[in-house]
Amino acid sequence: MGGATSDVTLSELDWCASQLSDGRSGLPLRPGGLLLDLGCGRGGPGLWLARRLKAVLLGLDIAPEALALAREHSRGYPASYLQADFHATGLPGASVDGAISIDAFWHSSNLGAALRESARILKPGARVVFSLVERDRLDLHGLGLELLEEHSCPGWRERREAFQRGAARLGLVLADLTGFQRRLVSMQRERCATPGGPAAPL
Ligand SMILES: C[S@@+](CC[C@H](N)C(=O)[O-])C[C@H]1O[C@@H](n2cnc3c(N)ncnc32)[C@H](O)[C@@H]1O
Repeated sequence: MGGATSDVTLSELDWCASQLSDGRSGLPLRPGGLLLDLGCGRGGPGLWLARRLKAVLLGLDIAPEALALAREHSRGYPASYLQADFHATGLPGASVDGAISIDAFWHSSNLGAALRESARILKPGARVVFSLVERDRLDLHGLGLELLEEHSCPGWRERREAFQRGAARLGLVLADLTGFQRRLVSMQRERCATPGGPAAPL
């Protein structure tokens, strides 16, 4: 998949797509709806999902270099890109029909703040699907989001180790991820929630 900077697989993206478009509860992402990709990097996963769900894509990243590549990768598709911080995006409240964040929130020093910001910009009942890389299971309650489903990522460790071996050959030293696991989490904005107030670190 062109443009990905994570090792997300197509079957994991399939799971994300089914979560975002699931209309059993809340607000499904429908064709023409706005999909926000938080920490979009070079744009691959967001663009793949937007194409699959026929959504309009808004990619957000803090790094201008990544956004320039994302713009190139999405030529000809209804996508726009914004340089912003996922802890305080500057986007209007309740303005997004669905959101994803693949392998970006683990860069956050305050995951609670990032998730509260996601809750603020989602329309009530809309979903955010994101990956977490964690050693101990985090408590995701009380963020203006309701936990819906989780998906484990089998094989992630092997893929990550292969990536690290390749990086080591290039002389790059990467963080030691021994003991960490990756999972995908699907959450829905509470219908009556008014997220706000100071965000405590998780
Ligand atoms: C490992 S890459 C994943 C990119 C993309 N989601 C993918 O799966 O290919 C993580 C991305 O998160 C972005 N990022 C890190 N901290 C951020 C922040 N506070 N706000 C927005 N983007 C951030 C980085 O610039 C980087 O592009």
